[in-house]
This record gives sequence, structure tokens and C-alpha cells, in this order.
Amino acid sequence: MNKDNEQLLSSYTLPNGVELKNRMIMAPMTNFSSNQDGTVTDSEVKYYARRSAGVSMVITACTNVTPNGQGFPGEFAAYSDEFIPSLKQLANGIKEKGAKAVLQIFHGGRMCPPDLVDGDVVSASDIPAEGEGNPTPRALSESEVEDLIEAFGETTRRAIEAGFDGVEIHGANGYIIQQFFSPHSNRREDRFGGSLQERMTFPLAVVEKVKSVVEKHATSPFIVGYRFSPEEPETPGITMDDTLTLVDKLADQGLDYLHVSLQEFFSKPRRGVEDLTKSRIDYLLETINNRVPLIGVGSIYSAQDARLAADTGIPLLAIGREIIIDPDWVQKLAEGKEDEIVTKLNKDNQEQLVVPDPLWNIISNTPGWFPGV
Ligand SMILES: Cc1cc2nc3c(=O)[nH]c(=O)nc-3n(C[C@H](O)[C@H](O)[C@H](O)COP(=O)(O)O)c2cc1C
Repeated sequence: MNKDNEQLLSSYTLPNGVELKNRMIMAPMTNFSSNQDGTVTDSEVKYYARRSAGVSMVITACTNVTPNGQGFPGEFAAYSDEFIPSLKQLANGIKEKGAKAVLQIFHGGRMCPPDLVDGDVVSASDIPAEGEGNPTPRALSESEVEDLIEAFGETTRRAIEAGFDGVEIHGANGYIIQQFFSPHSNRREDRFGGSLQERMTFPLAVVEKVKSVVEKHATSPFIVGYRFSPEEPETPGITMDDTLTLVDKLADQGLDYLHVSLQEFFSKPRRGVEDLTKSRIDYLLETINNRVPLIGVGSIYSAQDARLAADTGIPLLAIGREIIIDPDWVQKLAEGKEDEIVTKLNKDNQEQLVVPDPLWNIISNTPGWFPGV
């Protein structure tokens, strides 16, 4: 084995004592392939199982915690106990191959297509997302916000009952948790809005609720992670220093990891910090100061990409597009065959790659999204 890869393949113990067998994680990716009724499909479970033998942890596609949180067609649901058998199928499919299974819990808020949510598009405030044709959401009442926090807790309980090893709170990519943190989408005047501190109320309340459910219901260590996006392009919008304030707070909440959502691992801040030549990852690692592990992600394809990313000192790396392109990425690294890692989508290989039709049709027909397409 290439000696430089030893670090990537070494085990890592999360703060709750759960041991990850290596540093490589499958990033959460929506696959559009669940049944209309919100249950998982066999082809979807096979797609996950195919990718669960090398990485130490698989983070699932996002799943909605309430019916009006569905963000995508073909998204599997977790908003009621009737979905526990479906969730169990998914958790088992991942765990049987040796990876930890983490359920990404989410609500799409103002990003939900109206036809998926009976026209009831909701958010922190009635501000549409920027861009043509986006619906104007309805601002949640204070008691509805309380119910939503409860729903994140209930979905966590279902994840425990379904046998997942953990949940990831999806606070990234412009969905409802981020909508509460953002000065663009949150113009509330109650306790969930206002200053930067007040806009952290909802994200922190979700963390607290999820942790309290874990305390009450989990019988063995259960992973709780939190994903966030560092910046928004809009003005007003989340800036890098806003995020560092949030991350500083999150680092003290007893979470098992933080996970930054990036397209490019080495991307630089847009605004809000003094040195715009220093990477976002470096700022985050500095702020976190080893209080909680950070997962980095973004355009890691080759082994060399991963080694360069690991050189920043980040303990954990996620790969998204690349593990669709090559499900054997980690195994090839471990077997000293990193030269055989495939880094461009082979459009003739759907069957061998075990990718369900809806996901395949989207990724193989969207130019510029996946290398090779
Ligand atoms: C098909 C696809 C679906 C995605 N769905 C989600 C999702 O459900 N939740 C999430 O947090 N990120 C999602 N992402 C973002 C990825 O987790 C990841 O951050 C991004 O693709 C950059 O990593 P990569 O360069 O390794 O692909 C998705 C990405 C892709 C390609």
C-alpha cells in the first residue's frame, strides 16, 4: 500500500466512542428513486449496498421530517412511524456491507416544489428564494416552528428504531434550517429571528431536541452530525464570519461531527473574513480547534486529491460524485490499486455501477455536473 494512504485508511473514533474503520465517507446524495408513497425501492437499497463495502460511513440522501418538507420527487420519507420498515431496509442494506448508516434528516422549506407539498410551501418568513418563478413561502407560526423542532426529534427516534447508527441534521444547501439561520430568508421578529444570535435559535433547538431524543431512546452510542453551508451569495445572506460564529457554537454542543457542504474542498471565502486567500476549510479547522471532528468534501476524485485534502489536517473526508463514478474507490486504495480508480462517469456502465434509472437519467444527461458528462 502507498504509505501516504495509510492516514486515509486509518480508523477514527468519534466523540461518542463509535469507531469508523477509515476516514472516507459517502456524502449524502438525493437519488430521486424512491416509491411514490415515500418508501425506499429495492434498486435504491442495492445502489447504497454497492457503495457500503469500502467507506466507513454512508450518509443517506435527505429524508423529509414532515409531509410539507419534501424537496425532491422520488425522495424517501421519514415523517411517520409507518416508514420505519422502509427505513430499516435501507439501514440494513448499508450496515450489512460494513459501513455505519447515517440518515440525513431534513425539511426543504421554501425550496420545496409546490406540487410535492400540496402547495403549502413554508419557511421562516415569506421571502422567496432568489431567481425567476420561485414560490413565495408562507411564514411558519411560532407554534408550527415548535412542531417542526419536534418533528426532527421524532424522525431521530424513527432512525434509532430502524437501526441506523446515527442522523445528520441537514443545515446546509439552502433548506429550512439554513433558512432560519440566513438573514435573507429569516426576517422574523419573534425569538426565532433578529440578530445573528437569534437566528441561531432554531438550528440550536433542533440540535438540542435531536440530542435529547438520542439520550432517551438510544441503547448504544448513536451518531449525531450537523451539516452546514459556509456562505450565501445573496445580500443580505450568510457570510463566512456568520458561519464561523455558528460553528463556534456548534462545536460545544456535544455533536459527533460537523460537515461542511462544499463543491470545491479548497474553495476560498467570498466575504466576511480578513484573508480571502485562506481556504474555508482552514478557517473552519482554526475555529473548531479540535473540539469536534470536521468532515470535508468537494471535488475529491483521485487518491491524490484525497491526500492533498487530508494534508490540511482535516480528520474525515466525504466523496459524493466520485463514489457514484467508482463504488470501489476505497477498496482500490487499500489494495494498492489507486491507478485503477475511475474518475470520469462511464456512460455505458449503469448496470455495473448499480445506479437506479431516475438518478442515472439525471446525472448522465446534465452536462458539466459529473466529470465525463
Ligand atoms: C446527485 C447529488 C445529490 C445530492 N444530494 C444531496 C443531499 O441530499 N444532501 C446533501 O447534503 N447534499 C447533497 N448533495 C451534495 C453532496 O453531498 C456533495 O456535497 C457535493 O456533491 C460535493 O461533493 P462531491 O464533489 O464529492 O460530489 C448532492 C450531490 C449530488 C451530486
